[in-house]
Amino acid sequence: MIRRTKRARLILCVSIGSLSLLLLLVVLFVHTQCLRPSISYYRILEDSIRNHHPDDRSKYILLYTNFFGNRNWNLQAETVGPDFFRSIQCPVTDCVLTNNRELLASISDYDALLFHIAEAWTYSLFEKVPKIRSPRQIYIAANMESPAHTKHLLEGDHDFFNWTMTYRLDSDIIWNYNNFVDIESGDIVGPAERPQWRTGWEDYYNETLYELALGKTKMAVQFVSHCGAHSRRDELVQEIQRLMEVDVYGKCGTLECPRGSPRCAQMLTGEYRFYFAFENSLCRDYITEKMYNSMESYIIPVVFGGADYAKFAPPRSYVDVQQFGTVRKLVDYLDYLATNPREYIKYFWWKEHYRISGDQPFCQLCRKLHEIGARERTQYYRNIKQWWFDGSCQKDAKIKF
Ligand SMILES: *[C@@H]1O[C@H](CO)[C@@H](O)[C@H](O)[C@H]1NC(C)=O
Repeated sequence: MIRRTKRARLILCVSIGSLSLLLLLVVLFVHTQCLRPSISYYRILEDSIRNHHPDDRSKYILLYTNFFGNRNWNLQAETVGPDFFRSIQCPVTDCVLTNNRELLASISDYDALLFHIAEAWTYSLFEKVPKIRSPRQIYIAANMESPAHTKHLLEGDHDFFNWTMTYRLDSDIIWNYNNFVDIESGDIVGPAERPQWRTGWEDYYNETLYELALGKTKMAVQFVSHCGAHSRRDELVQEIQRLMEVDVYGKCGTLECPRGSPRCAQMLTGEYRFYFAFENSLCRDYITEKMYNSMESYIIPVVFGGADYAKFAPPRSYVDVQQFGTVRKLVDYLDYLATNPREYIKYFWWKEHYRISGDQPFCQLCRKLHEIGARERTQYYRNIKQWWFDGSCQKDAKIKF
């Protein structure tokens, strides 16, 4: 009896054992055949997350050089992030701007490096350009000054910069002084290669402005602090002064009016008819804040520069010196406007349709760094010196003087 029981127990154990083994094999079979695919999917997913990670994360922009002695390019802090981009109402805000080279583990981890080429880079002995560079990094040449004021020598920068960020309209990122925004649509209309300006200046009239124009007693005003500029604007003004009165304020003139004082701003609207916004050099697309600032007041800017102003400002918002063959013709036209207030005030028609807004180059930069198309294209400037200098400035003005 006992022996039989023992045998039965043995059989039971063996069968339980082999059953477990079978079960194990089944589990193993199921595991390898059915569960494995899901494991490899998981791995694929993980790989793809890893591979796409650098593109989906914040873009880090390193301010590699100073901006006119300012380490953080006039930003509020050493490092600014999405909050800053939100505060200036950028469409894309997932970017970090910093001058801290230790924020990321390596210089080659930053998505973009910004170099200011208007001034000579102050190299210390050990710190020139980064020693290591990743191929997906974007090196950017930034400049708001004209070629006449570019102090960094671009000679040695062949095959170095991927993008340009300047006031020129053919830059990768346009960093101009101001924009004209359509009040109704909120769209930036100019600058653009072919801006679609509204019409309506021909029959523009406004009683208050008419009264204002009648009250003006002085002809033209100019503010200059940089004398002997490349454009020879000082000589031009002297020629004009032989035919018409021009009050010159600032270092290069005889009069003084502290910048930003209320009296100074008041006299533009209340006393003077024309504001001379003469650029220091005659370069393509180069229009600085002078013209835009004067447009805040009710005074007609008389512009002198190398730009095609029609790309930048609405028609009938300025008088372009370069459209006149001689100084005499220019002065005759200004006299005509001065004695015909109805014509004079037509130069303010645009104020009902456009407002001037400061440019936000960092918005464009952030957006472009996130653009798939821009990211996947490899590009760099073989000869940045040629791009920046050749054919970009006029030596002689079109108007004779
Ligand atoms: C940036 O320029 C460098 C140097 O010419 C080049 O090797 C690299 O491929 C460029 N990168 C991109 C993303 O265009």
